[in-house]
Amino acid sequence: MTLRGATITGIGSYLPDRVLTNFDLEKMVDTSDEWIVSHTGIRERRIAADDQATSDLAYEAAVRALKDAGRAAEAVDFIIVCTITGDYIFPATANLLQHRLGCSRAAGFDLVSGCTGFNLGITAGAALIQAGHVDCVLVIAAETLTRLTNWQDRSTCVLFGDGAGAVVLEPCDPGQGLLGYANVSQGEYAEMLIAPAGGSRKPLDEESLRNKENKVHMQGHEVYKVSVRGVPMICEMALANAGLAAEDIDWVIIHQANKRIIEAAAQRFGWPMDRVPLTIEKYGNSSAATVPITLDEVYRQGKIQPGHNVLIVGFGAGFALAAAIFRWTKEPPAVS
Ligand code: ACO
Repeated sequence: MTLRGATITGIGSYLPDRVLTNFDLEKMVDTSDEWIVSHTGIRERRIAADDQATSDLAYEAAVRALKDAGRAAEAVDFIIVCTITGDYIFPATANLLQHRLGCSRAAGFDLVSGCTGFNLGITAGAALIQAGHVDCVLVIAAETLTRLTNWQDRSTCVLFGDGAGAVVLEPCDPGQGLLGYANVSQGEYAEMLIAPAGGSRKPLDEESLRNKENKVHMQGHEVYKVSVRGVPMICEMALANAGLAAEDIDWVIIHQANKRIIEAAAQRFGWPMDRVPLTIEKYGNSSAATVPITLDEVYRQGKIQPGHNVLIVGFGAGFALAAAIFRWTKEPPAVS
């Protein structure tokens, strides 16, 4: 039996208005624009307003994606919200968005996988469509990572930003849309990138709050090494799964954690950097959201054409690695 395909039919993103530059950070911690740019590629990042929670960012991105797909909220069967910064520990942010968006027929869940969240969300959503269970899945990746940031820790606070991106997935002909993917967990590295307190292992108390153990703790150099090793591996696995070679890839949309990690992967496969778009300079690392934000930006520029092979790559906390290849089916947006 040939399963039907699943493809991206709508895409949208949202960035909060407030900009925090490296020069602003120079006034907050012992750092410099020169250090941040040379080590990460980041120049500025966006910060959610005090009254904006993750679902507020997610809502804006979802509305834009549904509009782009030409679908009403009532058409959505399933909502997957990829986030590590949901509005609450419970209930799931997916339920809040189901109600607010008016997706009256939809069920949904939150998917907690940090920077690989969007990749896992689109492969899970595509599987639901391919199996014939549903016809319209909204996958939203949204983060207010700056709420998990320790603003006294210069080794992490310069990295993160807030933002959201969303896609609509719908059925397509076999051989179009999602061609192949690979997802890998490396739980042995879990403690390299972690918020140690606030879960059931270490509930919040005065001491953990004082030590900021509810914020991001990262062994940056170790994460860097595991990423530089893992990203080529997961790309190879996805290429093999899709039956494609590196030179068949037209666009590489890769998690925006560090410009040097992205450039190393591009060099390894011989992908020219004009096919590996960067948004890290403007938006920093917004975890699960960087990939759909970057995809949306390139799509809006009219660069991705039907028939192009688009490789989407995530890596981060878990440790987790994920890559998926789509044969693009969507026309570029009309120039307004
Ligand atoms: N400004 C100035 N100096 C700094 C800063 C800063 N913001 N941060 C660290 N330094 C210093 C360190 O203290 C250290 O000084 P020392 O040599 O005197 O001890 C020096 O810079 C080098 O520190 P390293 O940590 O070895 O620097 P590195 O070159 O590894 O760069 C970085 C750090 C940018 C964090 C890098 O390791 C990295 O990008 N790691 C991967 C991050 C990542 O990919 N995260 C993944 C996903 S995030 C998620 O899933 C939520």
